[in-house]
Formats: sequence, structure tokens, C-alpha cells
Amino acid sequence: MTSTTGFAAIPRVSRVAGRLRVPGDKSISHRYAMLAAIAEGTSRVSGYAPGADCAATLACLEGLGVRVNRLSQPTGEPGEIVIEGRGPRGLRKPAGTLDAANSGTSMRLFAGLLAAHPFTCVVGGDASLSRRPMRRVIEPLTRMGARIDSHDGRPPLTIHGADLHAITYLPDVPSAQVKSAVLLAGLHAEGRTAVKEPTPTRDHTERALEAFGGRVIRDGDLVAVDGGQRLRAITGTVPGDVSSALFWLALAGGTPDSDLVIDGVGLNPSRTAVFAVLRRAGVQLDLPPEAGSPAESSGEPMGSIRVRYGSPASFEITPADVPLMIDEIPGLAAMAAMQPGVQMTVRGAKELRVKESDRITMLARGFAGLGIRVDEYDDGFTIYGGPPAGGEADAAGDHRLAMAFAIAGSRAAGPVHVTGADAVAVSYPGFFEELDRIARGRS
Ligand code: S3P
Repeated sequence: MTSTTGFAAIPRVSRVAGRLRVPGDKSISHRYAMLAAIAEGTSRVSGYAPGADCAATLACLEGLGVRVNRLSQPTGEPGEIVIEGRGPRGLRKPAGTLDAANSGTSMRLFAGLLAAHPFTCVVGGDASLSRRPMRRVIEPLTRMGARIDSHDGRPPLTIHGADLHAITYLPDVPSAQVKSAVLLAGLHAEGRTAVKEPTPTRDHTERALEAFGGRVIRDGDLVAVDGGQRLRAITGTVPGDVSSALFWLALAGGTPDSDLVIDGVGLNPSRTAVFAVLRRAGVQLDLPPEAGSPAESSGEPMGSIRVRYGSPASFEITPADVPLMIDEIPGLAAMAAMQPGVQMTVRGAKELRVKESDRITMLARGFAGLGIRVDEYDDGFTIYGGPPAGGEADAAGDHRLAMAFAIAGSRAAGPVHVTGADAVAVSYPGFFEELDRIARGRS
């Protein structure tokens, strides 16, 4: 039995079979909630991500005077949220500090939204978020006319909103969060705000803006919005989070005799580059016939993925791959760790050091605790497949590391414990229950 408290004993998995669904996409959920809040009318969003990150976005919106209704479903199905839009620049000055908890996406996107509102407010977060770099949003938003105070570029942020003017911005690091913060500010700025992205990143903000009736201009590597647009409410469904699905793809792809289908997963092409890496690693992956023209909700394609064990091979993630699969690297490392003779090398991924934890050092340390060798580089690592002997790994407060250690640990020769396992609640509250079902062969 596992426990979802801080210390989890990991069950042993011998085969992965059946069908499952994963929680709603975290990135899309944040965007739907924020755009619904500044749209006109009442939005209804089903499949909203159940984790603590997206709950933090809703709580911040309530702090900003937005009415949010969480409707639960009797059968344990994903709930629906109802958000009453307040219209452009309609957010209210909050009474106290807004708490983004562990969520970098909440903090950075709110910075963009609040930069255009005519009041001062403070956005803070937990110890992990308080260490994360915010200059990447402070700099462009300041250039647009806002004033943002920070602790040497780190949270909390004190945002003094203002009348903004448009800029054309070239971010230092490829980041969907930075792009989104600038575009959200641009919605309320004077003129056309553009972001130039030599390396593409996930495009959920652009798709969501269009779903809410906004206009997005795409021109080569430039994406732009005109200020003064009015958005209108939607009724939409959030697809399953492909980053959560990846942990099961990794487990099934790394476990002989496995055959698993994951239904209702988001198949946005700016999130699915990881499928090519899985195939390079020897995993058999089938997208169903409808994958050519998948079902869509509010401009986000979704469908079922079938994954089977194939012939494991060593694989690399190149610097060019990284921005489109940054969140999937811990899960891919877990898959490599299961396979004797397999190596996985990642380079050009220094960004991993400023995620919910330093995901290079803490990943290497955790896998070492399970008896797996990891060579650490400044911008990546090489992990050498085991299988893991067993032991203890510390999630370092990081939801994706907790899941990666649990997935690799479920294929270990000896017992495995993950400390800080309750971090999974950030994106996947039911993760350990699902792992138990898989271990019992009843997925
Ligand atoms: C996200 C973008 C990525 C990703 C994060 C979610 C988003 O971060 O790692 O989990 O929702 O825009 P960066 O944009 O900082 O790379």
C-alpha cells in the first residue's frame, strides 16, 4: 500500500494494462480561468485541473473580486468551474497578498494581467516559488510601463499597475510563461504587442485567446495581440494533461508486456514533441485514427494514446528538443532508469535548475538513492539504466520528481520509499491511487 502523506512506499509493477484518464491540463486550466475572469459573461470549464497549482489561480482570482463556483460531480468525475467575467481591466484591488503557492505559471501570468490594472498588489508564493527567477517577466512588463518591485528579481512581486504601451519583445529564454505574461499585458496596452520566439514554446495562450473571441496575429516567429480587445465567455473542456500522461507512458513503455490506453489526452502539437523521443527510445506509441483530426475543445486537440513496450534503446534530448518537453524530462529519466544497458543524455537544459526544484541536482541525488548512476552536467545529465536496486529518494518538494522516483521505483528490485511524496498534489492528486491500481493489474 502506498500513502499520499509525505512518505510513500512504492508498489511493485510487473505489467501495465488497461485504460485510464489523467487530470486536466494544468497550463490550459490556468489560462481558461484567467481569461474567463477578464472576459464578458459567465464561463463554464469542465475538466479543470484538480491540483494545488490551479487551485491557487482560482484563489488569487477570488482575491481579485472574481466570483468562482466549483461544481463537484457525484461520481468523482472531474469537476466543473463557473467563472463570472469582470470584463477588461475589471479586476479589483485585493485586500491582502495574493498567494500563488508553488505555481510559477500563476505568478508570471498574473504579473502580466495585473501590470495593466490601476492598483498596486503583492503576489507571493511558497519557499520553492520564492527562489524562482522573475526578472524574465519584470523586464518586459517594466518596458511596457508597469513598475514591479521584487527581492532581487525573486518573489514576492509588488506590482504597480499602469496604463501600458505596446512593445516587441525578444525573451532571453524560450518560455511560454514569459510570452503569455507579455501577451496578457498586451491585451490592455496601447498598440500592438508582439513577442518574437526563435524557439517555439507551448501555444495555449494563443489558442485560448482565440477561443475567448480574441484576435492573435502570427507572423513567422512573431506572435502579437492588439490592445483594447474584448473577450467573451466560453463553455469548454480542458483535455487531460500530456505531462501527467507521460509518467504512465514512461512506465508502460519501460515495462515488458505492457499495453495501455490513455483517453482524452491533450494532443496540442506544441506539447507532443515528447512522442518522437519515446519512439526513439523504442516505445511503441499509437495515436488513434482520429489523431489526424483529433477531437477539439476550444481549439485544443485531444484524443487517446496507446502505448506498448517495444525494444528499449538509448536516447538523447538535444538543446533544440528541450523547450517543447521541459516538463517531461523527469518522467523520461524514470523510463531510462528501468532499462538495463539504456542511457539517456540531456543537454541544453539549464532551465531545469530553476523549476520547482533544481531538477538536475535533485534528480541525480534521488536516483542515486535508488541505486541508479547519474552524471550531472551544468546543463543536463546522463542517466544509466538499472533497473533500480531500491532505496529512498527525496522528492525535494517537487511534484514531477516525486512521480519520476515513484515510476522508476515501481520497477526496482528492492523496496522503494519516496519522501516528500505529497508534492504530487500540485498537479496530480490521485497519482498514488492510480499507481496502486496499476500495480494490482486493475488500471
Ligand atoms: C508552462 C510553461 C513552462 C512549463 C511550466 C508550465 C506554462 O515553463 O515548464 O510547467 O503553463 O506556460 P516556462 O515557460 O518557464 O518554460
